Order: sequence, then C-alpha cells, then structure tokens
Amino acid sequence: MIHGWLERNSILLLIGILLVVAVGGAVEITPLFWVNGTVEHINGMRPYTPLELEGRNIYTREGCYLCHSQQIRTLRDEVERYGHYSLAAESEYDHPFQWGSERTGPDLARVGAKYSDEWHRAHLADPRSVVPESIMPPYKFLAETPLDYRDIRAILEANSDVGVPYSKDQIAHAKEDLEAQGDPNAEGVGAFQKRYPKAQARDFDGNPNQITEADALIAYLQMLGTLVDFKTYQADAPENRR
Ligand code: HEC
Repeated sequence: MIHGWLERNSILLLIGILLVVAVGGAVEITPLFWVNGTVEHINGMRPYTPLELEGRNIYTREGCYLCHSQQIRTLRDEVERYGHYSLAAESEYDHPFQWGSERTGPDLARVGAKYSDEWHRAHLADPRSVVPESIMPPYKFLAETPLDYRDIRAILEANSDVGVPYSKDQIAHAKEDLEAQGDPNAEGVGAFQKRYPKAQARDFDGNPNQITEADALIAYLQMLGTLVDFKTYQADAPENRR
C-alpha cells in the first residue's frame, strides 16, 4: 500500500530514493575511514625494489593485466590451483592494484619462483615454445630493449608520496640499487641487500652486458607472492596487526 502511494508521489519517491542511496553509500564508505586498522599488516611484506617497480610498470604498460589477474579468490578450486588466497596486505604497496577481473591466462599472484628465469625468458619471447597451446602474444622485444631507468628515483618518490614507506636512503640510492639487483657483478649488491633484505639479485635476462626490460619484468614476476611465508602465517596472529 505504501509502495503504491510512494510511486504516485514523485517528491516523496525522490526523498525515499535519496535516503536509500545515502544509507547504502554510508555502509560502503564509512569503513574506509578505519582502513588502516582493517587492512592487517603482515610479516614479510616490503615495498618493491627499484628493478621490480620498473618491471611492474612494464607489466601495466604492456597490458598484461588484461589477461592476467593477481588475486586468488577464497574459493576452493582457486586455492588448490594457485595457493593460499590473496590477502589485502599483499597489495598494500600496489599503486594501482593489479587484482583484475579478466582471466584469459592464469592468475599470477603467486607465480614467483614457480618457474626458472630461463622459462620466463623463453615464454616471454615465444610463449608457444614452452606451452604449445598458448594464446599469449610474444614479447620478444623486451629482452632486446635496454631498460630506461633515468626516472627511477622520481618513480620511488611518487610511490612514497602515496604512502609506500620508502626510506630516504632507498630513494637516494634507487639507481644504484636497480643496477645492483640486475647485475650480480655490480659493486652495490651488498648495500642493495641491506636495503631490501631477501630480495633476489641476479642476471634475470641471461644477458650480463645490459639491463633490459626483460630483466625488470622477470625480477617482478619472480617475486610475486613470495614475500609472505604461508607455512608460518596465521590469520589472527598479533604480529599481523599494525
Ligand atoms: C591475450 C592474453 C594474454 C596477454 C596479453 C598476456 N598473457 Fe600471459 N598468458 C596468457 C595465457 C592464455 C597463458 C597460459 C598459457 C601459457 O602459459 O602461455 C599465459 C601464461 C602466462 C604465464 C605463466 C603462468 C603460469 O602460472 O603458468 C606468465 C608468467 C605470463 N603469462 C605472463 C604474462 C606477462 C608478463 C604478460 C605481459 C607482458 C602477459 N602474460 C600477457 C595470456 C596472456
């Protein structure tokens, strides 16, 4: 009865709609004011290294996210195929996040350490050389293109501006750290590993003469999902709180 009455009175209907939308909006927006307390912090998470960050930029530049998601849903088949479901904190340093909703290819949230660098090199240059039925396009040019990292410091600063906790030291040495991670013979490897404990430093693209876009992209792919140790992770452990 109220319904019929409301529908025949446009002003009342309008007020009704506004009320409903306002309540819905409040329910969605209010939790964001406490987001720092809601999103747990987990041991092991660290900001991307400069080389990984460049790799991530290539990942977005090439539109890899159009075919690959980076979010393992809590469904059983997902967890059995890809590993532990993704935690919000695993994306805490992602600007923008790469969760994605389209999966032409598999989810990549935990692809790190699944394959060797050689496999990634072969796969990026010609996916069908390792997966004959693949429909992924080839990215051969990545290994042939020297990485342009002149603005790496600015990239770290931009991430720092939106809340990624890079230290002054990390920002000041962005260029040296990038070179140290991609070239194991570089001088600064020790200092790099102090600034980014446990980060992998090696010649990712198999070409020691220069740092290429493939170095950056493979460094990024090889660390995806490897930061949190799920053998020891407990969802409600106190050390996961800020
Ligand atoms: C047109 C869709 C498409 C695009 C774009 C694409 N991929 Fe793929 N990718 C696939 C498909 C399909 C597979 C599964 C077959 C295979 O392994 O090649 C795959 C597989 C992969 C795998 C192996 C995953 C696993 O767990 O076996 C990696 C790593 C990968 N892609 C990385 C990339 C990167 C990096 C880019 C961007 C440079 C990219 N892909 C762009 C479709 C795509």
